[in-house]
Amino acid sequence: MALRAAVFDLDGVLAVPSILAALGLASETLALPRDFLKEAFWKGGPDGPSVRLMKGEMTFSQWVPLMEEDCKKHSEASGICLPEHFSIKTIMEKAVSARKINHSILQAVLTLRKKGFTTCILTNNWLDDSVQRGSLAQLMIELRPHFDFVIESCHVGMAKPEPQIYKLVLDTLQANPNEVVFLDDIGTNLKPAHDLGMVTILVHDTNTALRELEKVTGLQLLSTGTPLPTPCKLSDMSHGYVPIKPGSHLHFVELGTGPVVCLCHGFPESWFSWRYQIPALAQAGYRVLAVDMKGYGESSAPYEIEEYSLEVLCKEMITFLDKLGISQAVFIGHDWGGMLVWYLALFYPERVRAVASLNTPFMPMDPKVTLMEKVKANPLFDYQLYFQEPGVAEAELEKNLSRTLKSLFRRHDESLFPSGKVSKLGGLLVEIPDEPTLSKMITEEELQFYVQQFKKSGFRGPLNWYRNMDRNWKWGCKGVGRKILIPALMVTAENDQVLIPEMSKHMEDWIPHLKRGHIKDCGHWTQMDRPAELNQILIEWLEMDARDPPMVSKL
Ligand SMILES: *[C@@H]1O[C@H](CO)[C@@H](O)[C@H](O)[C@H]1NC(C)=O
Ligand SMILES: *[C@@H]1O[C@H](CO)[C@@H](O)[C@H](O)[C@H]1NC(C)=O
Repeated sequence: MALRAAVFDLDGVLAVPSILAALGLASETLALPRDFLKEAFWKGGPDGPSVRLMKGEMTFSQWVPLMEEDCKKHSEASGICLPEHFSIKTIMEKAVSARKINHSILQAVLTLRKKGFTTCILTNNWLDDSVQRGSLAQLMIELRPHFDFVIESCHVGMAKPEPQIYKLVLDTLQANPNEVVFLDDIGTNLKPAHDLGMVTILVHDTNTALRELEKVTGLQLLSTGTPLPTPCKLSDMSHGYVPIKPGSHLHFVELGTGPVVCLCHGFPESWFSWRYQIPALAQAGYRVLAVDMKGYGESSAPYEIEEYSLEVLCKEMITFLDKLGISQAVFIGHDWGGMLVWYLALFYPERVRAVASLNTPFMPMDPKVTLMEKVKANPLFDYQLYFQEPGVAEAELEKNLSRTLKSLFRRHDESLFPSGKVSKLGGLLVEIPDEPTLSKMITEEELQFYVQQFKKSGFRGPLNWYRNMDRNWKWGCKGVGRKILIPALMVTAENDQVLIPEMSKHMEDWIPHLKRGHIKDCGHWTQMDRPAELNQILIEWLEMDARDPPMVSKL
């Protein structure tokens, strides 16, 4: 029978270095025999404090004095002197907080899952009530989304190598033993699994273990190059709905804790365009709110054009923060979302912790030249003229949502966008085949999610964002002498055909401390085109410029 489930130990397999390895090291540092702490740890066997800790019969803080007692006894019995400030609590807390997830093995878990494997963690774990308990929580919150099941000894009242816990694993997985591969770094914990008929792998080091796992599964698991970040799983997301005014609300998806990062998508997209950024930013320690912008998805889509002026859109984002009780957020926008976040920074700097835009440069209004004149003068913006007449572009773009979105969401080397000649052709899709191929950067399933989102309100609301040129120009002119001096980042994409990097070249005149990122071989749809590169740029910038409010120096 073929393998179809993979079970991983936590300590020493998914997270390293293992606690036992750390105890060995600590013994040496304290000039004790190498195995001293490990032996003390297992003192008393199945009835000893450590096994009772693992079975959840006591908490970590209850176990510490018992373990210290055992160390004392063990030292007396072997004629060893314990150092003066000997503290099990300190040793353990250090070991736990030094333990980190090995991402090579986590990547293998993702691959297995993609290939249809059921994944499970089986760990001898304890109820951690120490000061450092956050590190264990942090480990588990990062791991949990990638496993179908997590079995922790302290929650099931039994611990490895008790035979019953392996039966529990099989029941949970609904699998026969010979369909399961189990990885552990302790031989005695593998033995009962092996006796039952599971395939077992003893983990000394990650790479060797992964090679063995490749052999038994027949899958390539050793990572080649940088892996693609994990996208959001739709069924796992939490949704929020914020009332903006009577009859109107904004919808968002939320993940993580920490400083708030608010993601604002562009035309014609969805909160889902940030699917590769949401888990990565949450994992980096931020509370991510990915908004369905006004007119899109599950947010309200009023009919009137003036409902979509930048002034109204910005005011409503401030109301969004007010209603959630959030004083400041980092705003990251793309395309129209980028335009919006620059104007938030210009008009409401006290609410913006930091601002970042993808592709869209900050362009201050010119009181001498209207926005419409500017757009007319730039052939790259020709499609915006086609968008002006209400009803026209709606009819074309709504005719077949699947074809429309498939035609638009493409990499630069697959592009079908009739740059510069949309108004001459009288449409965006005129020359596009009825059944365009699917872009490399999106799956059919993902495309269908967008299609569903646009079924609700269509394209009128999204197109209305383009139909407020005069209102936006007049409002923007009020901010004309201002500079943006809060932390700001501009990310340019080498191959965006409309928002070309060159358009951003004078931004430092208005944003003197601007930080920059540039992504090569990247078209317009930056978040799905180059997710790994973008995530790295965003996370580095956030850590630097958006972590804590800067200290006010005391003079
Ligand atoms: C995982 O462990 C292997 C072998 O111990 C090591 O070579 C590798 O750098 C680790 N990978 C990560 C991403 O931590
Ligand atoms: C809509 O477009 C899709 C993708 O191009 C195509 O497969 C489908 O047949 C079209 N539907 C209709 C009703 O034309």
